[in-house]
Amino acid sequence: MKDAKVVKRDSARSDCSSAHQEADGRIVCADNLSMMATIADASIDLVYIDPPFMTNTTRVSANGQNYEDRWRGGVDEYRAFLQSRLTEIHRLLKTSGSVYVHIDPRVSHHVRLMLDEIFGVGNFLNEVIWSYRTGGVSTKWFGRKHDTILVYAKSAGSHTFNVRREGAYRTDGLKLDEEGRPFKQTKKGRLFFNADGPALTDVWEIPFLSTVSLERTGYPTQKPEALLGRIIQASSLPGDLVADFFCGSGTTLAVAKRMGRKWLGCDESEEAVKIAVGRVGQVKTKVELG
Ligand SMILES: C[S@@+](CC[C@H](N)C(=O)[O-])C[C@H]1O[C@@H](n2cnc3c(N)ncnc32)[C@H](O)[C@@H]1O
Repeated sequence: MKDAKVVKRDSARSDCSSAHQEADGRIVCADNLSMMATIADASIDLVYIDPPFMTNTTRVSANGQNYEDRWRGGVDEYRAFLQSRLTEIHRLLKTSGSVYVHIDPRVSHHVRLMLDEIFGVGNFLNEVIWSYRTGGVSTKWFGRKHDTILVYAKSAGSHTFNVRREGAYRTDGLKLDEEGRPFKQTKKGRLFFNADGPALTDVWEIPFLSTVSLERTGYPTQKPEALLGRIIQASSLPGDLVADFFCGSGTTLAVAKRMGRKWLGCDESEEAVKIAVGRVGQVKTKVELG
């Protein structure tokens, strides 16, 4: 696209320094490293980031602005870019806080090692696999249809975590008690299942946003609200501060606001910030997502 505006990755972009403030949240248009430097230590409860994945592609948004994910310095440049930002995120998290780093199998191994160094191996909580079905599938290898979300606590054991239960247990072949409830017979007696269903595991089947989804903003790389709903429900409490320093179209911020959390967003793209501001502006109610 000839006249598309290219979003650079350099820090200190002079054409992007606006901020949007509401009672329970803020969105800043800036390079996130310089923006994070202005925030006090241990002040954030939950950080979710969805940074570039080193795809070496340029994606064009609905209004013709480019989302540039190219790294002339290769993996070393990419690693250095993330290293400085993950180090800042570690500083900003409260003792009870967690970070969710959303990437894909192209770079997940690099990022996992970096997180091990910065957060400590003992603070690794999960490698969440977001599994989805989109487009075609190669005939040369298995279809690459998942993203990886690495989850680390600032201090494992002190971190906020709310178990989520959904779905049904496999009960085929089990005996039923007098009230029709399935149970496993153990040496200690009957073992019943939790009535609220099984606890969520680390493989999440959540549909990708379809081209006609009502959530769609036209911003490339937009993630589904259902994904952020799970993350925010699991790792924060109402009133907590949730931050996304690569906020794009503002998915995290809109969901956090709807769930009664405080929210803080940053993106270096003016277009992204404009969309995110419009999006949070449409969230009027604070309702806990199921
Ligand atoms: C993958 S997109 C995020 C999409 C977002 N999760 C959503 O649902 O819309 C990554 C975003 O990071 C932004 N970005 C890249 N480098 C940045 C930097 N140094 N500072 C701030 N934002 C940056 C890009 O402009 C882009 O909007």
